[in-house]
Amino acid sequence: MKLDRRSFLKTTLASCATAAVPQLALAKSSEGFLELKAANGKAHLYGDKGGASDLWLYNDRLPGPEIRVKQGEKVRVRFINELDEPTSIHWHGIRIDNTMDGVAGLTQPAVKPGDSFDYDFVVPDAGTYWYHAHNMSWNQVPRGLSGPLIVDEHKQLFPPETDITLVLSDWRLDEDGVLDTASFGAMHDFFHAGRLGNWLTVNGVSLPDIAMRTGVWHRVRLINASASRILDLAPERFGARVIALDGQVFSEPRDVSGVVRLAPAQRMDLVMRPTKTGTLPLEMMTGQPFTFANFQVTEAQGNDLPLTLPPVNRLPEPDLEDALELPLVMQGGAMGGLRSLLEDRSEEDVRSMMQDGQFWTFNGIPGMQDQPMFSARRGETIVLESRNDTSFAHAMHVHGHHFRVLARDGETLEHQDWRDTFTTDPRETVKIAFVADNPGKWLIHCHMLGHAASGMMTWFEVS
Ligand code: C2O
Ligand code: CU
Repeated sequence: MKLDRRSFLKTTLASCATAAVPQLALAKSSEGFLELKAANGKAHLYGDKGGASDLWLYNDRLPGPEIRVKQGEKVRVRFINELDEPTSIHWHGIRIDNTMDGVAGLTQPAVKPGDSFDYDFVVPDAGTYWYHAHNMSWNQVPRGLSGPLIVDEHKQLFPPETDITLVLSDWRLDEDGVLDTASFGAMHDFFHAGRLGNWLTVNGVSLPDIAMRTGVWHRVRLINASASRILDLAPERFGARVIALDGQVFSEPRDVSGVVRLAPAQRMDLVMRPTKTGTLPLEMMTGQPFTFANFQVTEAQGNDLPLTLPPVNRLPEPDLEDALELPLVMQGGAMGGLRSLLEDRSEEDVRSMMQDGQFWTFNGIPGMQDQPMFSARRGETIVLESRNDTSFAHAMHVHGHHFRVLARDGETLEHQDWRDTFTTDPRETVKIAFVADNPGKWLIHCHMLGHAASGMMTWFEVS
């Protein structure tokens, strides 16, 4: 089968044999160290219709093994690098000890080929998180270096067979259905919407079937592990309600009509109790609905148990009366953004930005600097007002802290959700607030990984 590289695939794969969604390998790590090894590996990203792709994998699995611990426990990972290049692991969304944040070059040196590093940290909050490479992320993550990190509540509310983790990944496949590696790092991608693919896998599998039963509540944890692809999903179309975003559970389930965006790095937990047997497609709603997995519902004796949500995590509440308010203006990129950014810069400045491959800026400054963008006293509330003066959407991630999204375009939001990654559309302003309560050096960057590599990355310090 030949693939069209540009547009999203409308294939006949649906009519071919489908695969069951694989159970992710569980790795418990509270006792001793769990070994996590990054190495070259292979997988079929386009089912048996495509060839085997050369990937970089954790423990030879796509995605990496599901690490699962209880809230308040420790994650202890002995990480071994068998790749040909240095790497590190970041534990996305965990309010973590700074030395364990895994940012190569900021919180630790990159782990060299053949070396190892012990990660050892407590997970304060329950919920759906993930881990991924954090050195040359634009290259390492979309080759397969990511996996889920699930922190269970003390009380188990969903039995294991009804608690389903789905890692969604966007791939750019060539006409043989094999990962296109030649185009990694293409400046054109960095300059535009980032590296976009033409195929989606769920837990590493093409168009899988996900088993469900009638009459029982299921919790579905979606993780967008894509390098740049924003997934527009419509939970209402398969009878699901949203109970958590970026790991943080709501006090009640939320009915969402229409499309919910799941940007790179974001997570969304759903609950659903199918009433009928049959197939419920999981679709991407960009353009024509595009099915990339199917819930297959079979008959079961409903247990009639009511839905009980886990307790919300206790996060420090921002004090808006006494906050350090800062702008975060995004500029640059193609479609006019860069032109306006460069207008009042010296030729010298422009040349050096181009030489360093920096096309995007925060507050006029391209990429990582020696000095932090700001410093905060421990416990201080930070309010960031971001303004997107580019022609592209971005997915902004703050390390080490969850923030409340207060307002969009000046309008106070009904649900000021806790998030670790927020989306922003062209011309939009988004206001977020958090308590800088975690000492150390923390990144703020776009999770469209090519954007991060070409300027959309900065840091702040809490002391
Ligand atoms: Cu998941 Cu610095 O990122
Ligand atoms: Cu971006």
